Amino acid sequence: MTNQYSLSGPDSNEPTELARVEGTLGTPAVDVRGLNQKAGVFTYDPAFTATCSCESDITFIDGANGQLLYRGYPIDQLAEKASHLEVSYLLINGELPSQDQMDTFRESITHHTMLNTSLMKFFDSFHYDAHPMAMMTGIVGSLAAFYHDTTNIHDPEHREIFAHRMIAKIPTIAAAAYKHSVGQPIMSPNNELGYTANLLRMMFAVPAETYEVDSIASKALEVLFMLHADHEQNASTSTVRMAGSTGANPYAALSTGIAALWGPAHGGANEAVLNMLNEIGDSSQVSKYVEKAKDKNDPFKLMGFGHRVYKNFDPRALVIREYCHQVLDHYNTHGHRLFDLARELEKVALEDDYFVERKLYPNVDFYSGIIYEALGIPANMFTPMFAIARTVGWCAHWMEMMNDPGTRIARPRQIYTGYTKRDYVDIGHR
Ligand code: SDX
Repeated sequence: MTNQYSLSGPDSNEPTELARVEGTLGTPAVDVRGLNQKAGVFTYDPAFTATCSCESDITFIDGANGQLLYRGYPIDQLAEKASHLEVSYLLINGELPSQDQMDTFRESITHHTMLNTSLMKFFDSFHYDAHPMAMMTGIVGSLAAFYHDTTNIHDPEHREIFAHRMIAKIPTIAAAAYKHSVGQPIMSPNNELGYTANLLRMMFAVPAETYEVDSIASKALEVLFMLHADHEQNASTSTVRMAGSTGANPYAALSTGIAALWGPAHGGANEAVLNMLNEIGDSSQVSKYVEKAKDKNDPFKLMGFGHRVYKNFDPRALVIREYCHQVLDHYNTHGHRLFDLARELEKVALEDDYFVERKLYPNVDFYSGIIYEALGIPANMFTPMFAIARTVGWCAHWMEMMNDPGTRIARPRQIYTGYTKRDYVDIGHR
């Protein structure tokens, strides 16, 4: 097997030798660092469809075979046997925790769940109809105005405290955004409760009544959060890495990830899937919408379908689809209607050459909203749920990048297609 690639250009006499870069798993790469000095050319790859931006030990995706590993552990095993905090420890530290390590980690997360009272006042400044993702982007970015004593990005202990604070506080922030959007009092965390039970109570409890967390609901969130925790160099994680590469405040860097995740092509798709299913209405309309999705003159896409990396089933979608049965059998019948409609849509699409030829399969967002909706979580809170889970991955990748002494500021180049040099013309002569 070759360890070198040769690049011969239209006007270069000698080919340029480029080294092969290979990891422990996955597709190798051509090392193009210094290509412009060696061969006088750049590489050109809009949307980075074939570009590796870094080396990472955290997550591996085999898109052709629908496999997802967190630090080597298959996601379906973790979803079945672990907890979200256990997976958080794994992603941040690289190994599954011992019982003592787990107890210490849980203790740290539990005692960072509260928000500074002056930060809580920021929620009052949002209009009642602000989207919770808009509030989360602003509040997480505002965390950069706090914690000056422990935000030295070059101090490993400060980096760890940052990650623990973010993992602990992001549910409190999401729940507070939800409470603000429904005009109810913001609930403080209750440190007697587990991670997802605390979130459910902060979202659905009111001071006037006692609230009993449903164990089926908190377990469902545990599974969904584990499945959404990381996904290598996706758009929002790459955004956090790029912002962090400048040496920016890590809370500010994380807020860029929330902003990027909000897009309907990314984490915003779960909300868009539920809106799409409600628009389709019933199975008699499925074929019409599948045809719309195939029509190049129609901007409509089947939300929750397709993926830049998976050209097979997204393994997370398979776990979630199976989990729907457990949750829907415990909750409402409305979810059954949506689930049956989603299954019919999946069936019709996967029998259609357009989707088969393009290898468009259901992704993580296709079924997740059906579970969230069954738990009573409104559609505009689906992406905040994704953000809670992905905060772990964003922190893990930021820490991995900041731990690497070779990290440099990310600064892509371009192909310039504008005017060549021209002289200024006085306004009277234009
Ligand atoms: C997430 O990167 C990650 O890892 C993301 C994520 C994570 O965990 O971080 O997995 C989470 O973001 C999942 C994706 C959620 N987004 C959606 O479900 C939105 C709907 N999907 C599409 O917008 C699209 O499939 C993307 C954005 C997911 C992927 O886009 P690509 O890789 O740029 O693919 P493409 O748009 O070039 O599509 C290739 C072809 C095109 O047709 P042709 O030009 O070849 O004729 O497939 C078509 C597209 O028009 N196509 C679709 C489609 N998705 C792709 N046609 C109809 N419906 C769709 N959903």
